[in-house]
Amino acid sequence: MARLTVVGTDQEGAGERLAARVAAEENRGLLRFLTCGSVDDGKSTLIGRLLYDSALVLEDQLESLERDSKNTAASGAGEIDLSLLVDGLQAEREQGITIDVAYRYFSTPRRKFIVADTPGHVQYTRNMATGASNCEFGVLLVDARQGVLTQTRRHACILSLLGIRKVAVAINKMDLIDFDQAQFEAITEEFEEFAKPLGFDKITSIPVSALRGDNVASPSAEMHWYHGPTLLGHLETVEVDRKQTGRPFRFPVQWVNRPHPDFRGYAGTVASGSVNAGDEVVIHPSGKSVHVARIVTADGDLDTANEGDAVTITFAEEVDVSRGNVLAVPEAAPSVADQIAARIIWFDEEAMLPGRSYTMKTSCQATTATVSSLKYKLNVDNLDHVAGKTLELNEVGLCNLTMAKPIVIDPYAENAETGSFILIDRFTNATVAAGMVEFALQRATNVQWQELFVDKEARADLKAQKPCVLWFTGLSGSGKSTIANTLEKRLHSLGRHTYMLDGDNVRHGLSKDLGFTDADRVENIRRVAETAKLFVDAGLIVMVSFISPFRSERRMARELLGEDEFVEVYVDTPLDICEERDPKGLYRKARAGLIRNFTGIESVYEAPEDAELDLKTANATPEAMAELLLSELRKRHVV
Ligand code: ADX
Repeated sequence: MARLTVVGTDQEGAGERLAARVAAEENRGLLRFLTCGSVDDGKSTLIGRLLYDSALVLEDQLESLERDSKNTAASGAGEIDLSLLVDGLQAEREQGITIDVAYRYFSTPRRKFIVADTPGHVQYTRNMATGASNCEFGVLLVDARQGVLTQTRRHACILSLLGIRKVAVAINKMDLIDFDQAQFEAITEEFEEFAKPLGFDKITSIPVSALRGDNVASPSAEMHWYHGPTLLGHLETVEVDRKQTGRPFRFPVQWVNRPHPDFRGYAGTVASGSVNAGDEVVIHPSGKSVHVARIVTADGDLDTANEGDAVTITFAEEVDVSRGNVLAVPEAAPSVADQIAARIIWFDEEAMLPGRSYTMKTSCQATTATVSSLKYKLNVDNLDHVAGKTLELNEVGLCNLTMAKPIVIDPYAENAETGSFILIDRFTNATVAAGMVEFALQRATNVQWQELFVDKEARADLKAQKPCVLWFTGLSGSGKSTIANTLEKRLHSLGRHTYMLDGDNVRHGLSKDLGFTDADRVENIRRVAETAKLFVDAGLIVMVSFISPFRSERRMARELLGEDEFVEVYVDTPLDICEERDPKGLYRKARAGLIRNFTGIESVYEAPEDAELDLKTANATPEAMAELLLSELRKRHVV
């Protein structure tokens, strides 16, 4: 504290005063918090009030506000509509919803604040989770007239899942219930009872009127029965442990820094713990040990890098490290696993389907991942575990996931940076879920691939053919099976070794337990794709004839096989022709409402965009189609 040594002796008490000021300055710190609640809970007004009362509103801004306020319904005569301070976002004013996370900055003499304003509209849990992941404190807004709603409970769950340990429940619009203490206490009790299993360290309920300012920055004159802090007072003093001490060193490598041949460093941000020059660290997933040579920053080398520091690390030894590798201390290794159990918050309109593959991104790694099973989903109203097959928009569940390659991870409870991930839809590129790792599944590491003496090539050589899959997709009645059958007959007569996987037949055995929901179809295709892969491994030419209505799963099947081993054949017969043919009488039944989820009627068919072959069957015989396919196979040197 060199700054404190210059204290004049002639000024009584000046030393203490200066010391206190410096201490206050240093403790001021920064609190990042988010506000959440339902649409009409008055969030914008509350944030506006915080900004306004902490005297950060510029005069000219005020003038224009007063002008605007005259035109809005929310404000009474002569009052300022505080929500206008916040809603620079046109959209909320126009449509009644906020559409993105807005970060706002304000400060008081005691602390600085960044508030993430997240939309309350039910569709936008995604934004709420995005906001929460950057915050250490949450303010849950409840409308005193409505009490605790499903949305309040859902947001409380998400705050808890994302590791926020302390929350304030701002029970708003107290003026509209005559500042009724009993109602405030009933809501407080209800919320606390509900939130017990969520494990918050502290829940502080505060009765407020954001519109009038009661208990926001200054105590209310109307609620003498309340003796707790004002919301701002609480925000100024609440202690949050931003950096957890004693956590083991983790450093995800963001990029390899190689400005010239003599320098090779690994850039990133220390996710937890610290590291010193000279320390031994282990590179994961390779497990190689190395020693830190230098810790480089733009301002010169450091002896130590601590949590949150962005640095470039160089090693004493020559090693191969790439983006996505994680450096860790030897004593506490992260998990390297291709199967994990994780909590998932689903953000997308389209439900999560087990078996479908998504892009998984951690802080610096990316791979494809599928949800292999949904263990349970959470009923956010009572936190019960509910059985289910899919996760719908805004639902939370515990899942097992399987990744295409091992990733380096920690449980989220131990490290939020290395323990979280997002899932991205591979077609739309939308972020569809946030995930928090519970633990790595060990079974993955205990099952090894058994090398066999006789391999695919040997089996294929013996049959003098190139194994592959012809994947027929199209509507029911489009002619898939007929064409596949005719082709198989032809191939057989040419002495080729074939196998046929047909939708109706497989559903009598392997997929006997599956129906026609989206989730069941995804699982059906997963099984068939894996089976087709086994038959290709056996050296066979495999015909697969399934509706296989979803692009995602056809792509999954394609990726299971080698580049030349997958030929997608779109049996392109329009719905009206299929329906006219109706070989099994199923369309008639479906139209009569006797079959649910029938493809083309109640259930979608996503036509291929990049099939190798597009067969228009309307005016062609199955034999002609089979010949066409045969010549394609000849071109590909399959036969
Ligand atoms: S897929 O969608 O999972 O690929 P699959 O090819 O196995 O479907 O099975 C389709 C066959 O099941 C159809 O040819 C039809 O005979 C029969 N079927 C019974 N119910 C349905 C339904 N709801 N939708 C589509 N096909 C159905």
